[in-house]
Amino acid sequence: MLIDCDPGVDDAIALLTAMSRADLVGITTVNGNVGIEHTTHNALAIAQIAGVDVPVHRGAARPLIAPTIDASYVHGATGLGSVELPSVSRDIDSDDAVGFILDMARSVDDLHLVAVGPFTNIALALRRDPTLPQRLAGFTIMGGAAGPGNVTSTAEFNVWADPEAAAMVFNEFPMLTMVGLDVTHKVLLGPIERDRLRAARTPSSLFAAALLDHAVTVVGEIRGWVGAPIHDASAVMAVLRPDLFSGRSHPVSVELSGSLTRGMTVVDQRVGGRDGTDEAPPNAHVLFDALVDDVVTEIVNAVIDLQAQD
Ligand code: RIB
Ligand code: CA
Repeated sequence: MLIDCDPGVDDAIALLTAMSRADLVGITTVNGNVGIEHTTHNALAIAQIAGVDVPVHRGAARPLIAPTIDASYVHGATGLGSVELPSVSRDIDSDDAVGFILDMARSVDDLHLVAVGPFTNIALALRRDPTLPQRLAGFTIMGGAAGPGNVTSTAEFNVWADPEAAAMVFNEFPMLTMVGLDVTHKVLLGPIERDRLRAARTPSSLFAAALLDHAVTVVGEIRGWVGAPIHDASAVMAVLRPDLFSGRSHPVSVELSGSLTRGMTVVDQRVGGRDGTDEAPPNAHVLFDALVDDVVTEIVNAVIDLQAQD
């Protein structure tokens, strides 16, 4: 597994989950929740807390065309709330995330690429090597929604932050797995999971509990929910345990010019097109539901197990 991310609170829990349960060959970082310097520093800090020596390659500092935005109102000014981080003792392996993604796609068999931030790096990789889709065993994104958005009423943040990149990804991958808000808004980690993590008292589980302290508070204030949607870890779990999720394949396009809908993933759920025949072939397996309690338990167990034996 190779994770492209913008840590970010839920990205951090996704990375810990992958470090525990997958063969994580590398992390690439992208501008998104916060700026590239913070997302990259956070990736290094997360690996250090977890005690995992995984390559970290820095990626795009800006979207392809869209103005640079952030989600610091959710993730805090530096991206991981006010959680105390260790002073990072190592540096990035390169500032060429795109080159690393392509190198891994060419050299690692059965590689699953998982993108859980804006898709700038993935779009740039497609531009450099359009054969990327054929070199991967699978490509899973946290992004989009068939239903309502989050950053706007119609758009989900990762797609909205770089809609041109998202459009390239949906247009050029013949098939991807879309773990969108339709399912991630059902995978909530709250006080019970936070307390379970804190009681495990490993460096990773204490770190994840502190992240949940922040996330539960912020989401409670913004949405009034008791738990926080751990979007990105759901995408990782969809690769590790696809049996826990259900969805359907549909044609998906990204709106680029709507004044109210820019960044919207338009999921065509009609059975056939206008006249009953498919206007466009399905290009995304869109997840709509999950065995939520099992997904939550698997994420928490993965984080606890990461250093339980240490
Ligand atoms: O909309 C949720 C997505 O946006 C998640 O990846 C979260 O980390 C933010 O990047
Ligand atoms: Ca993210």
